[in-house]
Amino acid sequence: MSGTFITFEGGDGAGKTTQAALLEQWLEGRGLEVVRTREPGGTRLGAEVRRLLLHGGDEIGAVDARAEALLYAADRAQHVSKVVRPALDRDAVVVQDRYIDSSLAYQGAGRVLEVDEVRRISEWAAGGLWPDLTILLDIDPESSAGRRRSRGDAADRLESEDVAFHIAVREGFRALAKADPHRYFTVDATLPVDEIHTRIVGRVAGFITR
Ligand SMILES: Nc1ncnc2c1ncn2[C@@H]1O[C@H](COP(=O)(O)OP(=O)(O)O)[C@@H](O)[C@H]1O
Ligand SMILES: [Mg+2]
Repeated sequence: MSGTFITFEGGDGAGKTTQAALLEQWLEGRGLEVVRTREPGGTRLGAEVRRLLLHGGDEIGAVDARAEALLYAADRAQHVSKVVRPALDRDAVVVQDRYIDSSLAYQGAGRVLEVDEVRRISEWAAGGLWPDLTILLDIDPESSAGRRRSRGDAADRLESEDVAFHIAVREGFRALAKADPHRYFTVDATLPVDEIHTRIVGRVAGFITR
């Protein structure tokens, strides 16, 4: 396995989709094969899991925290084995929207499970695969909520959690980045789109040529 695995993290509305698309274009411009994917939902099984978790509502009732963590882990196991590893095996660059860090920030920091428990099951599900680089688009929850509204999103189950939850998630991401500065690259997501892209490319360029 010798490709490069890059993940984007940050709250909803931080600009992950926007920046992943720009990075994909830039990488393809350098002649690299890019596989752009996301969690949850990057496989057919995962899409069903995502549908249940984000929009299940009355159909499934209140979801127990451990059950939720295991559903995300099931999506991850399928996605890593069917999409990410095969792409890395053929030297592609995988650009992925959300990965283990989202589980840690959302379910660990924001909810009732211990971060280390969530890390353990996630790592097991992923067969120990960690990204080469994780880009954190860091933004205060009020600004990202404003962006989501202007994007015209209806709130899904996670997004309608209260402000304190979103603040805890942001702090969770920042703590993860601080604990692993070699893997993480944090960018101020309130900057203009082009400026963020320039900073990301600066970091990725050094990485790709190594
Ligand atoms: N740097 C930025 N400055 C202002 N608006 C942005 C920026 N990046 C993205 N947006 C806008 O904010 C909204 C959310 O961006 P998006 O890329 O969909 O975020 P995410 O994928 O993280 O949820 C979109 O309407 C997008 O056009
Ligand atoms: Mg997105």
